[in-house]
Amino acid sequence: MTQIPGLLDTEAIRKDFPILDRTVHDGDALVYLDNAATSQKPRQVLDALHEYYERHNANVHRGVHVLAEEATALYEGARDKVAAFVNAPCRDEVVFTKNASESLNLVANMLGWADEPYRVEAGTEIVITEMEHHSNIVPWQLLAQRTGAELKWFGLTDDGRLDLSAVDEVITERTKVVSFTLVSNIMGTFNPIEAIVRRAQEVGALVVVDASQAAPHMPLDVQALQADFVAFTGHKMCGPTGIGVLWGRQELLDDLPPFLGGGEMIETVTMHASTYAPAPHKFEAGTPPIAEAVGLGAAVDYLSSIGMDRVQDHEHALTEYAVARLKEIPELRIIGPTTAEERGATISFTLGDIHPHDVGQVLDEQGIAVRVGHHCARPVCLRYGIPATTRASFYLYSTPAEVDALADGLVHVRNFFG
Ligand SMILES: Cc1ncc(COP(=O)(O)O)c(C=O)c1O
Repeated sequence: MTQIPGLLDTEAIRKDFPILDRTVHDGDALVYLDNAATSQKPRQVLDALHEYYERHNANVHRGVHVLAEEATALYEGARDKVAAFVNAPCRDEVVFTKNASESLNLVANMLGWADEPYRVEAGTEIVITEMEHHSNIVPWQLLAQRTGAELKWFGLTDDGRLDLSAVDEVITERTKVVSFTLVSNIMGTFNPIEAIVRRAQEVGALVVVDASQAAPHMPLDVQALQADFVAFTGHKMCGPTGIGVLWGRQELLDDLPPFLGGGEMIETVTMHASTYAPAPHKFEAGTPPIAEAVGLGAAVDYLSSIGMDRVQDHEHALTEYAVARLKEIPELRIIGPTTAEERGATISFTLGDIHPHDVGQVLDEQGIAVRVGHHCARPVCLRYGIPATTRASFYLYSTPAEVDALADGLVHVRNFFG
């Protein structure tokens, strides 16, 4: 067995994830390398969901009976856990949403409806980057179309990094908001954000960080980031689907208008007008994803018990190994950083002129689950002149043996297509 310093005890960790034990097709061991799309769930999270529904299920807030109080305590307890996980100064800064996409749409809509000085309108600018997931592109395109604001972006260098050479020209006095990903979901690039944040602060623009590919993989400290909003999604970090997070600075959440209206988010309602509950409830209209929040709380407990710095070290060591193994394969071209430095554990590549869908299919026949396509980051594919990539993405339970299976599987793909 390959011994690599820095790895977690994956033998023990994998016992927590029942799905990793299953086989596919005719008894092939499952090699799950699609973690950037969604992670698998440990038993601790599955148990928390089960127990919630079996013992505590009720609607939250305002209830006077025992179950309602228990459900509320569990739901609000999950908010405490998430706040601690990202080092939020205050629990009320954590807004639960459906996913990262909703978190980002929430911010974009708030800024379209906001009063000065936050209002995005004609004559102002929105800045994003060319390596965003569609969830951090389309909401801003919609905002630009609806308000007449200009949408600008940072381009990419040939080696898959942000081109920050003209930061002062891209972010200007007219920029109201700068929104970018901390880690690319297609190339794995880890973005150095200091220069962007410094410039944004200089011109008084708000900073939105898409941490969907960071929160599951490294310690996340919203205070250290110096951002105004941070979005992420539960299902990529061992939590259930249907739960996302928007962290926002308290004074902004207090000042900005709500996005969705309904129950839970009001203070009083008359037939003429309504007043709103304080944040975070102002942004959580309707019955929230209660069980999902409880599951996310359990996921955060699980990851914290291992330690996010250890998860990061594990993935770094594994990525170093994976990059080296992939480089041995003739005609394999990594799209994005070609070393393990300043990158996460997501690696996209092309293999000669074999179409990624064919690569993915032949890997699947060997039990190896990767993702193929544009990964909801189509501008990246356009930038590098490719229709699609094959993407392998690792997590805390991934092993060197799985990297070997991928490398051997790719050799088989090459042989298969001659
Ligand atoms: C960087 C990034 N941002 C946003 C999202 C959207 O997450 P969700 O689909 O859970 O809203 C993803 C999902 O792949 C992502 O990788």
